[in-house]
Amino acid sequence: MDEQQEHGLARGLTNYGDFGFAMYLRRSFARSMGYSTGMLGRPVVGIASSGSGFNNCHRGMPELVEAVKRGVLAAGGLPIDFPTISLGEVFLSPTSLMFRNLMSMDVEEMVRAQPMDSVVLIGGCDKTVPAQLMGAAAADVPAVQLVTGPMMTGRHKGEKLGACTDCRRFWARYRAGDIAGPEIGQVEGRLATTAGTCAVMGTASTMACIAEALGMSLPGTAAIPAVHADRLRAAEASGALAVRLIHQPIRPSQVITPKSVENAVRVLLALGGSTNAIIHLTAIAGRLGIPVSLEKLNAWSDTTPVLVNLKPTGDHYMEDFYAAGGLSAVLRELAPTLHLDALTVTGETLGERLEAEREAWVDHTVVKRASDPVEPVGGLVALFGSLAPRGAILKRSAADKALFEKEGRAVVFTSLEDLSRRIDDPGLDVEADDFLVLQNAGPTSGSGMPEAGYLPIPRKLAARGVKDMVRISDARMSGTAYGTIVLHVAPEAAAGGPIGLIRDGDRIRLSVRDRRIDLLVPETELAQRRAESPAAPPRAERGYARLYQQHVLQADGGCDFDFLLGTPPGPRP
Ligand code: FES
Ligand code: MG
Repeated sequence: MDEQQEHGLARGLTNYGDFGFAMYLRRSFARSMGYSTGMLGRPVVGIASSGSGFNNCHRGMPELVEAVKRGVLAAGGLPIDFPTISLGEVFLSPTSLMFRNLMSMDVEEMVRAQPMDSVVLIGGCDKTVPAQLMGAAAADVPAVQLVTGPMMTGRHKGEKLGACTDCRRFWARYRAGDIAGPEIGQVEGRLATTAGTCAVMGTASTMACIAEALGMSLPGTAAIPAVHADRLRAAEASGALAVRLIHQPIRPSQVITPKSVENAVRVLLALGGSTNAIIHLTAIAGRLGIPVSLEKLNAWSDTTPVLVNLKPTGDHYMEDFYAAGGLSAVLRELAPTLHLDALTVTGETLGERLEAEREAWVDHTVVKRASDPVEPVGGLVALFGSLAPRGAILKRSAADKALFEKEGRAVVFTSLEDLSRRIDDPGLDVEADDFLVLQNAGPTSGSGMPEAGYLPIPRKLAARGVKDMVRISDARMSGTAYGTIVLHVAPEAAAGGPIGLIRDGDRIRLSVRDRRIDLLVPETELAQRRAESPAAPPRAERGYARLYQQHVLQADGGCDFDFLLGTPPGPRP
């Protein structure tokens, strides 16, 4: 084989028997872009860019792409950026999760189809980093993840504001009649004031930390604010690393392993991180055939303390986390429980990395010591029981412990439409001790499993000062939300799960201690209800919605598509 076939623009060239001609044609078109022949002889670093006018969190993308290019050029590579789908969390209907798999397929196929020797993936907003890691894992071309970084906070009447935990806090006060229209308007303009992802330990920040914990990002880069000069230096260094990865290849399948996945789960638990992250991590690992079981999550949760004092569960913001020492500080505290021999994309093991950072300063008001944690056990637990045979998730670090061992009466909403129609009805039969249940908001429900699990407190109860209630659904919850909220119930109602059989007035028992969520209705009665009204998910007629409905897995399968699992990794031959 011609040496040329193995790297640079010649990679993967389809030649129909005349390699010389095919290469001459490709070169001539590449030259139309103004590259010198010297440049065209260099190894190629692809830069997967996910900027979009519909993605405020990626507003800094052009500057980041430029900085990555600078790093690639200085290290002797040819940087070529290309666009992929962008997923801006608040601008997508019915919900961004529905398009995560589509973006992951875009990333996987474009990384494989285009001639690149390695790739820098730039993402940030909630679903983009998971999609990029899923795609990169499947394509298995040497890859570095770079995140856009979190927003800085705004100020309102002397108080720090950060999207989007404070969005919810102020809105709850407004709903309760505690603040007026003009003030909520002011707050609206002060919640999200810079480029970057949400300013708290929401899904985007959690996934940035998970990417670093997996070993797919440069050390110390997860928490750098979007507008900080260090972010551009991280981009430049990521470009340089991508060139090094061409000469000394390390593939995603060597970095994302059962050991690094366990490390990432422990980090998720220690962060008090987003519930969404367990779905995303399951999907990323699933692309390499690595299972993430909810039983193991519980075992790890019992032996991993929450160390990070950040909103939505604590007091601080991502800018404080970065200044306090960032993820390195967390990893060093967790070190005794981590697999230190896990390889990272730099070629160092996690242990070697942490050894080099041993002396770094830490602000222990933000990142606690393992001996003096925020919580002695991890942020998430899985619940099982007759209501959720294949599991459900509770973010116990963001929940009210007074509600952990409790039996209550079900107040059921059969769909998102039903919820919005009746939740604030003054005639709704609901008390503070009841359990609110939302059905038909899971993966195949037609709504795409939106972040609707944070059911609002019924207005009449909110006005009486009720701040939290047990809420149960097959939906998800925003990483920036908090409350005693049982999510991801599997199987979902639309797939025939018991959650779809609950009726008003049924009794439900929650026991966080026993990891159980049970519907206290005899099985004979449930069988009768099932026969009377079997699950009837809406059928999508065509296009992506149809593909999604036919192939999406339940939450315990990471909501990936069944046909994307088990694909042997590897670049196109
Ligand atoms: Fe993009 Fe929150 S909206 S990270
Ligand atoms: Mg979010």
